[in-house]
Amino acid sequence: MAGFRSVPAEPVIVQALRGSRPERLPVWFMRQAGRSLPEYRATRAGTAMLDACLTPELAAEITLQPVRRHGVDAAVFFSDIVVPLKLAGVDVEIVPGRGPVFGRPVRDAADLADLVAHDLPDDAFAPIEEAVARTVAELGPDVPLLGFAGAPFTLAAYVVEGGPSKDHLRARTLMHADPEAWRTLTEHLARVSGAFLRAQVRAGASAVQLFDSWVGSLSEADYRTHVLPASAATLAEVPEVPRIHFGTGTPHLLPALRDAGADAIGVDHRIPLDAASALLGGDVPVQGNIDPALLGAPWPVLEAHLEAVAAAGRAAPAHVLNLGHGVPPETDPGVLTRIVEWAHGR
Ligand code: CP3
Repeated sequence: MAGFRSVPAEPVIVQALRGSRPERLPVWFMRQAGRSLPEYRATRAGTAMLDACLTPELAAEITLQPVRRHGVDAAVFFSDIVVPLKLAGVDVEIVPGRGPVFGRPVRDAADLADLVAHDLPDDAFAPIEEAVARTVAELGPDVPLLGFAGAPFTLAAYVVEGGPSKDHLRARTLMHADPEAWRTLTEHLARVSGAFLRAQVRAGASAVQLFDSWVGSLSEADYRTHVLPASAATLAEVPEVPRIHFGTGTPHLLPALRDAGADAIGVDHRIPLDAASALLGGDVPVQGNIDPALLGAPWPVLEAHLEAVAAAGRAAPAHVLNLGHGVPPETDPGVLTRIVEWAHGR
């Protein structure tokens, strides 16, 4: 009829994250951009990780590679959880095969004062906004871009240790030994990650994920007292888009992660999605939770696992298919493409 224009449907992932079950099972993979792809290794050759993140043409190209190859339902912005700290002038590098390493770990009051003094100028996020805008323009309206940031606890685990650690002991000690310093640290990290999320949403990201990858090492009581307020402050910076809250080893923390203000919860392989959904009260969209270890198993074994994951996901109001954690670098990328075809064909 003249005068009526059809409203384009929201992308399937955005529908699911808002709580309605779309016509097909949406799928993306954490760490879909990265070392499993030969085109990534070629693009990155000779460029340090953080330099690639801060070069808009490179960041946009790497973000688009897995969308072209696999036909996933979303792109995830190629960056890193430590990028906003780098932009604030903090001495941090990403060491290949190891992870983020800080020149001045936060061990005493002077270290903390030094970190907090590294503020973010207004224009600090210019390379991020340019990369996001370029990516969104190339993706077009059908494939949304997901932004992300590191949650204050996971960032603090690196900042206090100075690098990757197994049980995040130093961070958890500081939390109890000096709760005031811990609060100053996590409030600062919440501001930094919140500003990173805002920049990505401002430039066109359609949804975001807050990565609290290592939060499973906390008790629920410690999480609620010492971590939840800072994560809630980070999520509250971008109320206009759906927010996924993800951690690993979190069966005991699921209601608390929801209470931090998430719209959807990312779950790892340690708990079936129907059990996770029940713990969440049955009304929260879930994301996950293919066991990354099964990417290397024969297809019939992986397919049976996919069937079980999808069936359990039906217990929640909506489900976004993903891994329980990032794509391992040695993954055969053909397997990821096959999972996308499987999800879209059912
Ligand atoms: O998911 C995606 O495709 C987007 C890209 C992304 C990267 N880092 C790129 C990256 C995302 C979402 C992250 C977040 C991130 N960074 C997290 C949370 C997610 C998770 O896996 O739990 C964490 C804990 C970090 C810190 C970090 N950065 C680690 C532990 C490493 C791995 C070090 C290594 O070499 O094994 C990095 C480096 C990193 N971040 C790489 C990529 C593609 C590898 C760099 C390379 O290619 O050499």
